Amino acid sequence: MGRPTSTSTAWARLHELGGKTRDLRSMFAEDPGRADRLTRKAGDLVVDMSKHLIDDEVLDALLDLAMSSGLPGRIESMFAGDHINNTEDRAVLHVALRAGRDDTFVTDGIDVVPEVHRTLDRMASFADAVRGGQWLGHTGKPIRSVVNIGIGGSDLGPSMGYRALRPYVRPGLEAHFVSNVDPAHLHSVLDAVEADSTLFVVVSKSFTTQETLLNARAARSWLVDRLGTDGAVASHFVAVSVNRPAAAEFGIDDENVFGFWDWVGGRYSMCSAVGLALMIAIGPTNFREMLQGFRLIDNHFRYTALPDNVPALLGMLGIWYRNVLGLSTHAVLPYSHDLGLLPAYLQQLDMESNGKRVHNDGSTVTGETGPIVWGAPGTNGQHAFHQLLHQGTTVVPADLIGFVEPHADLAGQHDVLFGNMLAQAEAMAFGKTAAEVSSSGGPERLVPHRVLPGNRPTSVVLAPKLTPSTLGQLVAMYEHKVFTQGVIWGINSFDQWGVELGKELAGTILEEVTSPEPPSPGHDNSTDALIRRYRTGRNRNV
Ligand code: F6P
Repeated sequence: MGRPTSTSTAWARLHELGGKTRDLRSMFAEDPGRADRLTRKAGDLVVDMSKHLIDDEVLDALLDLAMSSGLPGRIESMFAGDHINNTEDRAVLHVALRAGRDDTFVTDGIDVVPEVHRTLDRMASFADAVRGGQWLGHTGKPIRSVVNIGIGGSDLGPSMGYRALRPYVRPGLEAHFVSNVDPAHLHSVLDAVEADSTLFVVVSKSFTTQETLLNARAARSWLVDRLGTDGAVASHFVAVSVNRPAAAEFGIDDENVFGFWDWVGGRYSMCSAVGLALMIAIGPTNFREMLQGFRLIDNHFRYTALPDNVPALLGMLGIWYRNVLGLSTHAVLPYSHDLGLLPAYLQQLDMESNGKRVHNDGSTVTGETGPIVWGAPGTNGQHAFHQLLHQGTTVVPADLIGFVEPHADLAGQHDVLFGNMLAQAEAMAFGKTAAEVSSSGGPERLVPHRVLPGNRPTSVVLAPKLTPSTLGQLVAMYEHKVFTQGVIWGINSFDQWGVELGKELAGTILEEVTSPEPPSPGHDNSTDALIRRYRTGRNRNV
């Protein structure tokens, strides 16, 4: 990398390079070393970026843009505890949640690491007591079911981690995750647990989230009903929140509240006490191993020069597709059933972070920002939406994530899974030409239908095995990828003002659908008519 140019020069160069067609078949044919040259390592993760629609010039221009956008300085600002979440005037220090005991992370003049470790130690003692049967329910029974009640960042991290780390979950202990305000969600979980052996973990950073508070109140009534006394709540409810007074008001003793800090965004919080249900399920040792995995990639991101910096490179590839080639979605395809919730987790991480339309200073963004993130585990997706990935009119860059070793195999099935992942990446990259289709036989009229154009870009992410550490590494890789893109777009990846209007309107509409008297029309005529239909259906006075 030479000296960075200005961002506008870097963008202009990228747009010029975007005008040239790149063909993966010919780029691979001309360069036998391409796979090696475009594969990077971060911790235990090997990331093959060779099947991307890039060449050396593009890579160089992307790195130039990263430098001219000040990415290294912004990374340092985050790690230095600066208030880079400018609209909420907060530091963004989730990296401190996985700091070693001897590390230092300072914000507002305070080293936060000792407090992080005090909380982790408290969580560990509590988790051990639950796992070891020393923490007993009101009637003296040990806990067998942990029900996490939370939504968004207070649900997706621990639930994704619980499913991903299934082989590490203590036998005889199960966790459930209730997020949706739809009563069906809580009912379905309560039907599956026994009150006297269930621990509810109410997780809400703000402790004001409507869905969580309603579910938590309903769960408390169910418990008190079953166990016959309010006194049971103390042995069956703990809370995780930044807002201790609100948790106390809900009726949870302060000693049963696990805190965290306003410098942890909800979608970046799975390493904090928000991960309590996960820690209880997999145990403190495995939880700490996961934190160590996060830390490995934090250090990689902080200290690796951009040409070898995996999260930064993945972020810049996303910029190439979103802003230069005009591709609006990004697929995440884990070839691991246990990682089935990763796409949903990454949807919040990426889309709530980078779904923004103004810059840090409030000026309007002129290009595109965050892509639509979606996906599902392979091989299931192959029998559903991969048709569009291969032959649809839109190109979807995708991450295929695979593991060399399974936890438990079934007569060669892991080989089948892994082989399918590589086959999909190969088919997407190289497709099948008309000549190849013709030479493989079959009616000529079907040739156009059977052609696959190829040039569908993918990253293949390989890890030795899905362990707590590699899970932490994967999630940290995506967190820093999202950070990189936010820097390039000059947006605040750490606020979420866009979710507020819906919450406000829901409050008004709730009053209107429940009020004893028909509400006077106050919305657009579509919303008013739908309110009337609902009230009629519920036999409410219309
Ligand atoms: O409404 C969006 C949001 O604020 C997310 O950012 C957050 O993860 C989720 O709601 C839950 O918030 P809380 O943890 O405060 O209940």
